[in-house]
Amino acid sequence: MKTIIEPFKIKSVEPIHFTTAHERAVLLQQAYYNPFLLKAKDVIIDLLTDSGTGAMSSEQWAGVMRGDESYAGSDSFFRFESAVKELTAMPFIIPVHQGRAAEKILFTIKGGEGKYVLSNTLFDTTRANIEFSGATGIDLLTNAAKDSAVSAPFKGNMDTEKLEAFVLEKGAENISLVIITVTNNSGGGQPVSMANIKAVKAICVKYQIPMFIDACRFAENCYFIKQREPGFEGMTIKAIAQELFSYADGCTMSAKKDAFANIGGFLAVHDQQLAEECRNLLIITEGFPTYGGLAGRDLEAIAIGLQEIVDEDYLKYRIRSIEYIGEQLDGCGIPYLKPTGGHALYLDAKAFLPHIPAHQFPGQALCGALYLEGGVRGVEIGSVMFGEHAQHELVRLAIPRRTYTQSHMDYLAEVIIAVYAKRHEVRGLKMVYETPFLRHFTARFEWV
Ligand code: F0G
Repeated sequence: MKTIIEPFKIKSVEPIHFTTAHERAVLLQQAYYNPFLLKAKDVIIDLLTDSGTGAMSSEQWAGVMRGDESYAGSDSFFRFESAVKELTAMPFIIPVHQGRAAEKILFTIKGGEGKYVLSNTLFDTTRANIEFSGATGIDLLTNAAKDSAVSAPFKGNMDTEKLEAFVLEKGAENISLVIITVTNNSGGGQPVSMANIKAVKAICVKYQIPMFIDACRFAENCYFIKQREPGFEGMTIKAIAQELFSYADGCTMSAKKDAFANIGGFLAVHDQQLAEECRNLLIITEGFPTYGGLAGRDLEAIAIGLQEIVDEDYLKYRIRSIEYIGEQLDGCGIPYLKPTGGHALYLDAKAFLPHIPAHQFPGQALCGALYLEGGVRGVEIGSVMFGEHAQHELVRLAIPRRTYTQSHMDYLAEVIIAVYAKRHEVRGLKMVYETPFLRHFTARFEWV
């Protein structure tokens, strides 16, 4: 059969509240043209994020009931720990309430004034935690990623020549670590090849710099490796993931993505002394080392989610459903970052709305237009989020895991195509309020 169906049946449903175009015009104005400030009930298809928004399986819900809420040494912790060890083979597993908590702990210890943290592309919370520690975050992404209209298999790769040149220029002693984001969320959900991970690791070994992985979407990355990188065709996703983690000295993970959990994360490391320092901070900010800011039931959901995510039927449907939207847009010549990513489709707002300059935030304007047209909520990844560091003006439409069906995707394509047909009417925005860190969450706008 050529149709790839959702590899699940629906057991529990949540109603969607439909709004009219007139209602949405008022609601968007009340939200200062910032989708983060909309109420979720006023959104028809919510593609703000794939983080914590997926559907848990019946097994995970059963695990929630089984959760052991003991303060110390709960059974749920040991099941969680063994699920993480099974994939990463790292001896020290530290639970945290979400990915950025792992980043905060790691960079409080490894960051600091005068230090550099190098990456393919740092996610915004990662960069914020690095900068908050006084260190500097540097993105060294492959040149293959520069042109959003040109497809390439591994546009998430780190540029190893730039990496080595940077280490030589600043001195290895000033590089606290290298962290590779898989898949590269801010760069279009694009994967990193195993060959690239190995090449980065070789440089890190040469200069004695620890190599970490930001593992939020490790399973999607491993599926792309299986599809696109010679030599991996015959391997299971789990075996590919185990190889990927084998090159790392540690990892941070938001379990809200590729662990199908609504909350949670972890920090895993090989180095015992680093683990002890991390646990000391954990106790102050997150909780005792066997729960780290989570309930036992959350640890249980993560343990089961980590086993479910490496299922190839699931990953095939996941990646295919995003390609499917891309194919519908191709038919109308709508610009998006090619190829489609693992968790999202990224519209190229600069090419979509060429009449709106960067300082009038074309991505934010396009988010507004998608909401007005069909109640679709996406997120700007461009000059609002990154200021002058922005390399592209994108609108990310992140697909929650196991949540929407093919007809939701058809509706989404219809909304995007309708906005494209009237793109000349979309106006730019000016920012009238902003905060010093992560301004995109709370910024306010007005039409120009
Ligand atoms: N790293 C990456 C690559 C991420 O995408 C995220 C979160 C984090 C770290 C932080 O994890 O949210 O659990 O604290 N990304 C979400 C998103 C918020 O919408 O892409 P967190």
